[in-house]
Amino acid sequence: MIDKRIVITIDGPAGAGKTTVSRLLAKHLGYKYIDTGALYRGVALAAKENGVDPENDDALADLCRRLSLKFVISEKGLRLVLNGKDITDRIRTPEITMLASAVSARPSVRRCLLEVQRDMGREKGAVFEGRDMGTVVFPQAEIKFFLDASHRERAIRRYKELASDPSITLNRVESDMKHRDHNDSNRDLAPLKPAIDAIIIDSSDVSIQEVVSKMILYIES
Ligand code: DC
Repeated sequence: MIDKRIVITIDGPAGAGKTTVSRLLAKHLGYKYIDTGALYRGVALAAKENGVDPENDDALADLCRRLSLKFVISEKGLRLVLNGKDITDRIRTPEITMLASAVSARPSVRRCLLEVQRDMGREKGAVFEGRDMGTVVFPQAEIKFFLDASHRERAIRRYKELASDPSITLNRVESDMKHRDHNDSNRDLAPLKPAIDAIIIDSSDVSIQEVVSKMILYIES
């Protein structure tokens, strides 16, 4: 067990297993787990509900000023609360997924969430999952991981997570994921890429538990 409380970042593309791995790692270490993608999804939902054009940076900046996004632990687990309302169950639809990718490319949104995320990391003792945790938000993080997997494997994993919705097909998941990977990796601001000091782990042929064990070994060493 490590005795100093540190910040651990886990970046990577959609479906690489970041969420499960981050939760398990945080639990093992007794750390907080912060899903930063959920914050972008929260802004996307707010933009949709307020009729804000995801291409309009000024309108998004104004919206962000009026938003309060917090993670709260309840009997249902970790919940995302937007201006006092629990929105956890509403941010995983395909529509909000694509809208989150669009708003996440906007400078006003990245600026606003940069502060929110850094505030959440001030006390350390946290595992942050996202796309730019190691490169932009916490460049000084003590340990950085970049979790990747093949495109096909990631699409299959995401499809299984969404399988309770009969309208969703593997082809749709795969093509949405390609589109999103392209947006997330090619935007001007904070594109998805490993930090130069990140440890890169490919989870295509490795179980989640093996990935977590590898990470723990690395952290303890
Ligand atoms: O991890 P996720 O699928 O919930 O993320 C939703 C979107 O938010 C994703 O398309 C990229 C964006 N995102 C980001 O730009 N930076 C982060 N740190 C986390 C997510």
